[in-house]
Amino acid sequence: MEQVAAGWREIKTVLVVGAEGMLGREVALALSEPKWQVDGLERQIYCVDVDQVDIARADSVKNCLLYYLPELVINCAAYTDVDGCESHQDLAMAVNGRGPENLARLCDEIHAKLVHISTDFVFTGRAGKLIQPDDTPNPQSVYAASKLAGEEGIVRNLQDYIIVRTSWLFGRFGKNFVATIYKAAQEQEFLEVVNDQLGSPTYAVDLAQAIMHLVGAGGQGAYHFCNEGICSWYDFAVEIVRQAGLSTPVRPISSDRLNRPARRPDWSAMDISHYKNKTHQPVRSWQEALGEYLRYLDACVKSRSPQKPL
Ligand SMILES: NC(=O)c1ccc[n+]([C@@H]2O[C@H](COP(=O)([O-])OP(=O)(O)OC[C@H]3O[C@@H](n4cnc5c(N)ncnc54)[C@H](OP(=O)(O)O)[C@@H]3O)[C@@H](O)[C@H]2O)c1
Repeated sequence: MEQVAAGWREIKTVLVVGAEGMLGREVALALSEPKWQVDGLERQIYCVDVDQVDIARADSVKNCLLYYLPELVINCAAYTDVDGCESHQDLAMAVNGRGPENLARLCDEIHAKLVHISTDFVFTGRAGKLIQPDDTPNPQSVYAASKLAGEEGIVRNLQDYIIVRTSWLFGRFGKNFVATIYKAAQEQEFLEVVNDQLGSPTYAVDLAQAIMHLVGAGGQGAYHFCNEGICSWYDFAVEIVRQAGLSTPVRPISSDRLNRPARRPDWSAMDISHYKNKTHQPVRSWQEALGEYLRYLDACVKSRSPQKPL
């Protein structure tokens, strides 16, 4: 515990950017947990979203960071509509590309550390080979290219940063695959889900904790984080239906059938051993994390309070 918290000892002010998003809200909650507090240090936690700071605009980022003067900035903000990025390329590059660069420049100016979230989509991936943090990126969509540009903007402008690439995020505060399948399986006779894209689901609760551990362990550079295990979206859907106690049939289909604007990687399973070696933390399986989230969803339905934390 002492060692894990070491990186937190000097951090008196934290700014969470994109704090209203699925991950941002989990990060804000994690930051206030007692286990991350340091005796005798009253830490200030500020949470902002697009209404307070537009990361695409350098002047907005400057005003915000000079106002709060954080020692740590955690950037969860992004334009995350993968298909939407294809038809809004300028917006994607502005938010996902220049946004992180704007943050990095200001972090450098005020000597703050930046934690930034990126994606498995920056890679193409080769079936059977876990993607390493230093593998050569090869984005296949506008979203992926814009996220890569964001990473590059950070690396060019700042030394003290952590980039965490994650994949297939699901969580309590936003639209996600698990919630969609959970609902569809109760309303539809059968489901059709693609079985030719493989990767690793990630519970936003676990990713928020991973970020806290990486900061505590003094992480620097790029890490991959997802829950343990590899599956296809089809496997994922089958497990959601099974754990939800439903019997809705799930049929495998190929990605071509969906005809989506943005191309997704066929294989995006990432190696998380760099994260584990740095933090000495175990990572639970996606099935176990899914079980926790489904219990949350179930409790929301029973109490008729969707989107409220337990
Ligand atoms: N979701 C996934 O499956 C997934 C997978 C891999 C990596 N990631 C990465 O993980 C991170 C968190 O994703 P998430 O799913 O939590 O995203 P999210 O729920 O879409 O949240 C992103 C937040 O950023 C805000 N935002 C958008 N444009 C902004 C701007 N110009 N300035 C400031 N804030 C802005 C959004 O506000 P509005 O909602 O008002 O636009 C939203 O509150 C992102 O970097 C994403 O690329 C996500």
